[in-house]
Amino acid sequence: PRKIIIDTDPGQDDAVAILLALASPEDLEVLGLTAVAGNVPLPLTQKNARIICELAGKPEIRVFAGCDAPLSRDLVTAEHVHGKTGLDGPQMADPVMPLQDQHAVDFIIDTLRREPAHTVTLCPLGPLTNIATAFLRAPDIMARVQQIVLMGGAYFEVGNITPTAEFNIYVDPEAADIVFKSGAPIVVMPLDVTHKALTTRARIEAFRGLGSEPGRMVAEWTDFFERFDMQKYGSEGAPLHDPCVIAYLIRPELFTGRHINVAIETQSDLTLGMTVADWWGVTDRPANALFIGDLDAEGFYQLLIERIARL
Ligand code: BDR
Ligand code: CA
Repeated sequence: PRKIIIDTDPGQDDAVAILLALASPEDLEVLGLTAVAGNVPLPLTQKNARIICELAGKPEIRVFAGCDAPLSRDLVTAEHVHGKTGLDGPQMADPVMPLQDQHAVDFIIDTLRREPAHTVTLCPLGPLTNIATAFLRAPDIMARVQQIVLMGGAYFEVGNITPTAEFNIYVDPEAADIVFKSGAPIVVMPLDVTHKALTTRARIEAFRGLGSEPGRMVAEWTDFFERFDMQKYGSEGAPLHDPCVIAYLIRPELFTGRHINVAIETQSDLTLGMTVADWWGVTDRPANALFIGDLDAEGFYQLLIERIARL
C-alpha cells in the first residue's frame, strides 16, 4: 500500500474522502491526518477529523492539529456550505480518541525525513497552509515527496468562492503559490472534475441502503450540503470534491487530465487565488502539475459505495 498523509479541514466531503482512505488498507496506508483551518476553524477541523476516524472504527489513526490561520491573511471559512460544525447534518458525539501533542507541520516534516525518499504522498483537501509551512521550514523535504494529490483550483469551471477562485486556493493563495512552485510532482483535482462527481438521489440512497452507521452518515452529510449546491449551481446533485483525491490514488484510470503549468494569482484583489492553468499551452512555462479535467463518475461512485460498505 501507498503511504499517505491526509491534510484536511473537515468538511462533509473531506469526511467521505477520509472514510474512503480508511476503508482501503490494501491500497493506502494512512500515516496520519493533519488538520488545518479552512471550512471551519482549527478546533473544529481537528475534532471532526477524530470523529471521522472513530466512525470508521479506526481510533488508532493519529490526528495532528496544524495551522489555525493562513500564512499572511485572515481566515475565510465556509459555514454557509458546511454548517456551523463543519459536519452539519447528522448528530455526532464528541470523539474520545486523543489529539496528538505534536504539531501537524512537525509531523509532516519528521515523516518525510524519516521515510525513504519518494515513498510518502501528501493529500491536501483544504487550504495549503500546513504543507507550505512545512516546505518553508524544511525545504529539504520538497524533493522527498512522492506526489502531492490535492483538491483545489478551477479552470473552465472558474470559481466557487469568488467568480475566479476555488475555496481551498483562495483561503491561502500564498501557501498555494509555494506548493505549486515546490517542484514536487502535483496532481490537481479542480472544480472542473469535482463538478462531474455529482451526488444523485440514487447514489445517496445507495449509501443509506448500506444499513451501516458510516453509510447513513454519508447519506445525511450529502443530503445536507446538496441543498446548498443544487440551489447554487442548478445541478442534479452536489459535487463530492475531496473524495476525488483518494479515488485517484486507488483508481487513477477513472481520471483524465493534462500535464500543464499552473500558476497562482496572489496580487490582484479581483482574481485573488485564481489557478491560472495553461490548458492550451500558450505560454512556455514548464508543466508543474497534472491538471485533471474529467472522470468516470459511475466508476467513482461504484468505488465509493463498495469501499464504504466495508466499514
Ligand atoms: C473545497 O472547499 C471545501 O469547502 C471542500 O471541502 C473542498 O475541499 C471545494 O472548493
Ligand atoms: Ca476540504
